[in-house]
Amino acid sequence: MLLYQQLEQQLREDIRSGQLAVGERLPSVRRICQQLQLSKSTVLTAYARLEAEGLIHARPRSGYFVSGQRTELKQPDHSQPVPTPLEVSADQVLLDIMRKGAAFDLLPSPAHCSGEGNEPLRRCLARAQRRQGSTEQHYYDDPQGLEELREQLAQRLAQGGGPIGSEELVITHGCQHGLLLALLATTQPGDVVALESPGFYGNFQLLQSLGLKALELPCSPSTGLSPEALELALQHWPVKVLMVSPAYATPTGACMTDEHKQQLLQLARGHNMAIIEDDIYAELHFGMRRPRTLYSYEKEQLQQTGQSVAQAGNVILCSSFSKCLSRDLRLGWVAAGRYRDAILQLKLSTAIASSRTLQLGVSEYLQQGGLDRFLRQRRIQLQRQCHQWLEQLAVALPGLQSSSQPTGGLSVWLELEPGLDTLQLYYPALREDVVITPGRLFTSQPRYQSFLRLSFAHPLTPERQAALERLGKLLGNAQPSAQP
Ligand SMILES: Cc1ncc(COP(=O)(O)O)c(C=O)c1O
Repeated sequence: MLLYQQLEQQLREDIRSGQLAVGERLPSVRRICQQLQLSKSTVLTAYARLEAEGLIHARPRSGYFVSGQRTELKQPDHSQPVPTPLEVSADQVLLDIMRKGAAFDLLPSPAHCSGEGNEPLRRCLARAQRRQGSTEQHYYDDPQGLEELREQLAQRLAQGGGPIGSEELVITHGCQHGLLLALLATTQPGDVVALESPGFYGNFQLLQSLGLKALELPCSPSTGLSPEALELALQHWPVKVLMVSPAYATPTGACMTDEHKQQLLQLARGHNMAIIEDDIYAELHFGMRRPRTLYSYEKEQLQQTGQSVAQAGNVILCSSFSKCLSRDLRLGWVAAGRYRDAILQLKLSTAIASSRTLQLGVSEYLQQGGLDRFLRQRRIQLQRQCHQWLEQLAVALPGLQSSSQPTGGLSVWLELEPGLDTLQLYYPALREDVVITPGRLFTSQPRYQSFLRLSFAHPLTPERQAALERLGKLLGNAQPSAQP
């Protein structure tokens, strides 16, 4: 255990046991440094992590103090979608949200994002742009993607549970593109695809475009997809593919247990079902380590029986830099198991290649350790913001019934007063300059009307707080319809 982790754990225990009481001032950073012979940065890191957890808070020029009990909201119940595959219907509201750039910000405007830039990344990209010779611009990049970038990514993915070869990866135009390629490689129109409910709206859009049927599966807001529910579904439906986000699924932020992941793999093997693993939020963990991937578990299991993922891998892992670094890069990757060659062909036919310049710039940024440095701060910031937003939501939103309590990712899933329809409130909220993400976008069924996804990706500035209050007023004035 690192020194800051030891200090963090000691202080956490002192707070939990009451040895450090609510409101009590923690020893000053200088005093702890002297007493325990620690460096200032070690102590500051431990304090910052406890602050992000909501256990302590800083007061300007006074030091750090133990925080009071947080308002504890209950978690939403397990979801119970209708166990029948259905055609999906697209939603104009989603297009409107995306056109406003508002999927992760209820008050989208660059004016509210000051101080959120990443200068080292910008420099690496600019250098790559300068270094690209004019002749290289007349050639497409290898459809599989730049070798240097794939090597960097393979090293990062090894932290998800085991070594990956750069040859297993194909670079894509973001995770959504990877998900599309994975579905194209594994399904035919009319096939049944099982997925989480509530689940990522992008998946429902893809199923609709490809003429696939969505079979929504019950999920827990804390541990995600239920293997028992999948097993039951497999007894009734010919499920071709399972789409799942084991690490901090959107909208709930749920994280699957390692035991459940192994059960999914066993079911996939028994039913010859492919699994599309969406790993996009995995690097945004509040705890010490990123969760293990299904891909790594499967690889380990296959190796024990003398097989490789290239021969027998059922899992296709998709991810991108959109959540952990920048949405604007439009750079993602797929680790495709036995579908690698099919996915490479599909990359060629849907996009030809990716931008060499971008890949070079990002690869240099990774090689310099830029992403690790960025994420160390970002994770602390996100955990702090998550607590701040949850506190405010409990105060500002009348009739709030429950909220998921994520341990990573970017969003919380909120249950409002029964009978409210958040989709109906989308345009009234817009007139108040607030963009909401209604629950109906996270399903293909007529459900989750009284739910909202809210993101803590951005700081709770006074402007966002005011937006939240306007939303609270709107909800307070809305008339819940009679319950069916
Ligand atoms: C779960 C999930 N998967 C995929 C995507 C799309 O990612 P990208 O921007 O890399 O295409 C998103 C974006 O919101 C997401 O939330």
